[in-house]
Amino acid sequence: MNHRFAVPIIATIVVVVLPATLIGVALRSPYTHANLVSRFDSGYTRTEQAEVGPPRLYRPASLSIQVDATAPMEERGKALYVAYGCAGCHGVNGEGGAVGPRPIPDLEVLRENVRRGPGGMPVFAERDVSDYDLTAITAYLKSMNK
Ligand code: HEC
Repeated sequence: MNHRFAVPIIATIVVVVLPATLIGVALRSPYTHANLVSRFDSGYTRTEQAEVGPPRLYRPASLSIQVDATAPMEERGKALYVAYGCAGCHGVNGEGGAVGPRPIPDLEVLRENVRRGPGGMPVFAERDVSDYDLTAITAYLKSMNK
C-alpha cells in the first residue's frame, strides 16, 4: 500500500466508524441519555439496585404537596403519583420505568407494595401516602391502562 493513502484512510475510518458506533449505541442501549428506543429491549436487565440496611421510611419535603381536592379522582391521582415520586421509578404514564416495573393498577396490590417497599422501593407510611391517596393513584393508573 502506498504510504500517502495512510492518513486519508485512517481519517475516513475515524469519520465513519466513530459516528456509526455512537449512533448504534444511541439506538440500541436503553440506558444512555441519547436513548431513542421507546420500549425496553427484553435483552437488557433493569438497573441493578443496591440495598444498604433495612428499608426506611421515605419522607421527602414534597410530601406536603397540595393537590386540588375538587379535581377529578384520576387527575388527583396523577398529581400524587408524580409528587410522591412513583413516576420517577415507574414511568409517568405507569408504563414501567428503568427502575420499577409497570405497577398493576389494583388498590390492594398498590397498598401491599407501597407499605412494604419491595426490592429497593421506598416504604411509604399511611400518614404520608394515605389509602385515600392510593385510591386516587389506582384510578389514575387504571385510566392509563385502558
Ligand atoms: C425508588 C424507586 C421507586 C419508587 C419511588 C416507587 N417504586 Fe414502586 N417499585 C419499585 C421497584 C424497584 C419495584 C419492584 C420490586 C420488586 O423487585 O418486586 C416496585 C414495585 C411496585 C409495585 C408492584 C409491582 C407490581 O407487580 O404491580 C407497585 C404496585 C408499586 N411499586 C407502586 C408504587 C407507587 C404507587 C409508588 C409511589 C407512592 C412507588 N411504587 C414508588 C421502585 C419504586
